[in-house]
Amino acid sequence: MKLILSIDTSCDETSVAVTRGVLVLSNVISSQIRYHKKFGGVVPFLAQRLHKERIDSVVEIALQRANCTWSDIEAIAVTHGPGLAPALEVGIQKAKDLASAQALPLYPINHMTGHIAACLAQVGERKPTEFQFPALALLVSGGHTELVLMWSFTDLEIVGQTLDDALGEAYDKVAKMLGLGYPGGKLISKMAEEGGSKKYTLPIPLRYGKDLNFSYSGLKNAVRLLIESIKTESGNEYLNRGEMADLAACFEYAAQEAVILKVKMAIKVHDEVKTLFLGGGVAANTALRQKLRKVCRENNIVFMVPPNLKLCTDNAAMIGVSAYLGIMSGVKPTPPENVDRCPSLSL
Ligand code: KG4
Ligand code: ZN
Repeated sequence: MKLILSIDTSCDETSVAVTRGVLVLSNVISSQIRYHKKFGGVVPFLAQRLHKERIDSVVEIALQRANCTWSDIEAIAVTHGPGLAPALEVGIQKAKDLASAQALPLYPINHMTGHIAACLAQVGERKPTEFQFPALALLVSGGHTELVLMWSFTDLEIVGQTLDDALGEAYDKVAKMLGLGYPGGKLISKMAEEGGSKKYTLPIPLRYGKDLNFSYSGLKNAVRLLIESIKTESGNEYLNRGEMADLAACFEYAAQEAVILKVKMAIKVHDEVKTLFLGGGVAANTALRQKLRKVCRENNIVFMVPPNLKLCTDNAAMIGVSAYLGIMSGVKPTPPENVDRCPSLSL
């Protein structure tokens, strides 16, 4: 089997990978975080400029690290959505140019199927765990919170999603309120380790909801109000470290409880499910992984997570693996002139 060169420029990471089947040969990620940090979030046209500046060298490094040349590459895969339009455009244009220069087939890939495929990526010798369909995928990133029923890698149905903010977005916004910086997920979860999750009571979003949807804007507002009331009570303008840690722990507890409740509900409603895939940036969260692993164990379900943290957050290797899984299911390449950015692409 020959190799796939894949590109993801959906947000603030310029990433290019080389994969063989599910095996990751290289996965280069050039992060722009330090440029966007001072704006408290990703600035789309700044992201575009930085992608343009970096994409050629990232392609070169990906080929070098995989120890291969263009003659080894069999296909090109690129994220065509969802994502930021100006950012997606850069990767798509590069993929089209390379496909025509090298006369290679081009596969446009949905970024979210990439996050699922990341669970099957193989790094080094360790093979991915065996699993069976039907499966449920929980996708938790900065832009998405979705529960997806999967009959195969190409037969997917969204059975639950957020009605407002995504889980990663809620982490980022709460981190901003606490003055922790961007992106906030990792910073909140680190801070939460020092805090008590029972110190304050925060609402568990849609706890009594009858469907599989999520909502994080109410929780975010509850945190905002709680911060104000703690400040009023103490008479201090700023929270101290202990208060911040307790807040982070209480937020994380409520935010994750909502996820656990909905996953348990989904497993009950769709009792044919044999596997749970966890994907997206928030899949890097250790506490969330542990809780989901326990739910899976109790329900006799195989739990699939990306093999390392780099494969949880945005990266191109997951796009290459997704392309491979698609090709194995009979997906055909798309003529380059028909490949365009789809910022709000759904599964
Ligand atoms: O998948 P991703 O890299 O980008 C999107 O497609 O959105 O996800 C980024 C999100 C950010 O919101 C970030 O705060 C969150 O993933 N994240 C985490 C952790 N690491 C990244 N959230 C919670 N705990 C983490 N350890
Ligand atoms: Zn993503």
